[in-house]
Amino acid sequence: MTAKTDPEYGKGVAKVGEGDPLSPILAEIRLGVKTAVSKEDFEIPLLPHVASQVLQMANNPKAGIPEIENLVKQDQVIAAKIIKTANSPFYRGLSNIVSLRDAMGRMGLKALKDIVFSLSIHSKVFKIKSFEPVLDSIWDHSVACAAICQHIAKKKGMDAEHAFLAGLVHDIGKPVLVQVVSEFEEKQRKMMIEKMRAQKKTFDPKDWKIDKLRDMLLPIIFDEYHGIVGALVATKWKLPGTLSEVIRFHHDYAQAKEGQKMAALVHAANIFCHHFGLGHEAKPVDLTQQKAFFDLGFTIDQIKVLEKEIPEIAKSLMGSL
Ligand SMILES: [Fe+2]
Ligand SMILES: [Fe+2]
Repeated sequence: MTAKTDPEYGKGVAKVGEGDPLSPILAEIRLGVKTAVSKEDFEIPLLPHVASQVLQMANNPKAGIPEIENLVKQDQVIAAKIIKTANSPFYRGLSNIVSLRDAMGRMGLKALKDIVFSLSIHSKVFKIKSFEPVLDSIWDHSVACAAICQHIAKKKGMDAEHAFLAGLVHDIGKPVLVQVVSEFEEKQRKMMIEKMRAQKKTFDPKDWKIDKLRDMLLPIIFDEYHGIVGALVATKWKLPGTLSEVIRFHHDYAQAKEGQKMAALVHAANIFCHHFGLGHEAKPVDLTQQKAFFDLGFTIDQIKVLEKEIPEIAKSLMGSL
């Protein structure tokens, strides 16, 4: 399999803003990102405090729900979201839960760690001013992918919680790249202002119509670098197991070694996300022709069952995380 057969690839062929006066500026931004990534000269955000504490707890068998409760109580936004998530159809129970302790009990320790980790990352890494729509879409896609990975992992007897985490962070390179792009963009905007000042012209913010062009630029940047950058993030954050490799090769899992099965799983979950348009527009494919499903050991009949189950499973978590 090559990256070209991958449903997330192939978007990067469009010429960026051809004919538009801002096009040279976007070409500069693209070059800036390319140089920064190749030299690894960009800022990788710190792993948020709560997320880092949760990861450390994973190595401590004595850490249980009371320890997580103490941690979560420090962040009221996360605490409130845990209750909301416990009441979502994904963790559906008979009664409506109102207390943090009950919410945690319903999820169970392993799932709880993943959810707390997710909420912490979301609140810190997916918030970049003026990029909200694109980050919200990446987040929704990541949550859907996590739910699907978990579902498929259970069917295949794989570690379901680890699969959830893999799905959740598989595109973590994207928000980090958005941050890099936003910095280069700001640099270019300031240069434009300076240039106009030197020409005794006034800068009209309306001239800075970056939104449309940004829509073209970001998919190209993502296509080119999100696997590489995501793997660097995973290494810096010391994410467990083979996650760095899984992130690096989730679009071309044949290249992965130790994490190949998990990378194939994430790849398969991505196919479902694109097929059903989970977090973005739908691009339906023939699900019975996707190599990843067969590599995971699914038969055509089993793929058809998954096709029926997955939209509801993914959507049940998307609204609450
Ligand atoms: Fe991806
Ligand atoms: Fe993805």
